[in-house]
Amino acid sequence: MKKISILGSTGSIGTQTLNVISSMKEIIKIEGLAAGSNTKLLKQQIKKFKPKVVSVNNALDTIKVKKWCRENGIDVEVYSGEEGIIKLATLSSVNLVVAAVVGAVGLSSTIAAIKAKKDIAIANKETLVTAGDYIMKLASKFGVKILPVDSEHSAILQCCNLGKKSQIKKILLTASGGPFYKYEGDLSKITISQALDHPTWKMGKKITIDSATLMNKGLEAIEASVLFGVSIDKVEVIIHPQSIVHSMVEYMDGSVIAQLSNPDMRLPIQYALTFPKRICSKIKPLNFWEIGKLEFYKPDFNKFPCLNLAYFSAKRGYTMPAVMNAANEVAVTAFLNGNIRFTDIVKIVKKTIFSHKIIKNKSLESVLKADVWSRDYSSNLIKKGIL
Ligand SMILES: NC(=O)c1ccc[n+]([C@@H]2O[C@H](COP(=O)([O-])OP(=O)(O)OC[C@H]3O[C@@H](n4cnc5c(N)ncnc54)[C@H](OP(=O)(O)O)[C@@H]3O)[C@@H](O)[C@H]2O)c1
Repeated sequence: MKKISILGSTGSIGTQTLNVISSMKEIIKIEGLAAGSNTKLLKQQIKKFKPKVVSVNNALDTIKVKKWCRENGIDVEVYSGEEGIIKLATLSSVNLVVAAVVGAVGLSSTIAAIKAKKDIAIANKETLVTAGDYIMKLASKFGVKILPVDSEHSAILQCCNLGKKSQIKKILLTASGGPFYKYEGDLSKITISQALDHPTWKMGKKITIDSATLMNKGLEAIEASVLFGVSIDKVEVIIHPQSIVHSMVEYMDGSVIAQLSNPDMRLPIQYALTFPKRICSKIKPLNFWEIGKLEFYKPDFNKFPCLNLAYFSAKRGYTMPAVMNAANEVAVTAFLNGNIRFTDIVKIVKKTIFSHKIIKNKSLESVLKADVWSRDYSSNLIKKGIL
């Protein structure tokens, strides 16, 4: 029996993880659920999955959730804020933590979980982009597994099982291309709802905007480099609009191994939960006669400069990926709040990374300092309208 905590249980990954677990009750038990501010959904999850401990973002919500639990005769401990989420991540009974919070805010809970020797099913790519080296070293020190939830990285993990790391020539990271891959209009006029209308995947708002700018693919390229210990030069992005091939690994002998399935996040989530075992799933099987053709194209780095910025940041290394990630988080929030245009996102990220003086040190302190600097700097750019 695996006992798990889900950090970000009310989000897209969190709810899909619970959906997967609904049919795995004999092998997985929910111990902890951490939400942000969606207490309505958290209460439904408490009723259905009966966790021992839950956490919400602010203290006022703690009082409301505690009161609701008392009135409904439910015995659950309720915590709040960073202390709460860390409590869930380190519960003694838990052996796997699903890190599904969005943004670098998930970093501290992931670190706490690793130090408490919990395996991590990681969806939260911003954590790996911000402090990938630190996280992977820590995981190795404490003997914990970092299991990818991202469909591309789950695919790479499965392809990597068939050869040695030293034999990998390239990781071929597939991308749907997002909603604007074929768009020929003026990207600066893109509205929030257009940018949120992803052709293949239904996801949280932040990753959906990242998919529209292709920053998501840049973050994923860095994530792949960190998770599989290969240089960023060996990670190549390929546009594959059907989202059937979830990624591939090319070996030194020229063999290319791919993982295919219908696009459904429940499959990589399930694989991370049951790794290294495979069990039956509810995923619609592939029908190659229905699919007909699979297409592959080169990404347009001029149309989607965020991809360039991600590779640039990864190559500069040290504190640069953290700075890029933080500036992107700030810019995406500003776009979703209607404060900047779609095309301003890349301008803010670019201005911020080109103003950053790299700290040539990979310590957690340096990375956190750079993250704070980047958030201040990029917020100021937006406040002062310097775009
Ligand atoms: N969605 C996908 O298909 C997908 C695929 C691959 C990777 N990912 C990655 O998975 C992560 C989550 O993505 P998502 O799409 O699931 O995002 P999402 O739908 O926006 O969900 C984010 C979750 O984090 C919680 N949260 C946000 N801020 C928090 C805070 N300060 N403290 C505690 N909880 C907080 C939210 O709580 P409330 O909603 O209650 O406020 C929610 O449960 C991201 O890093 C994303 O890149 C997602």
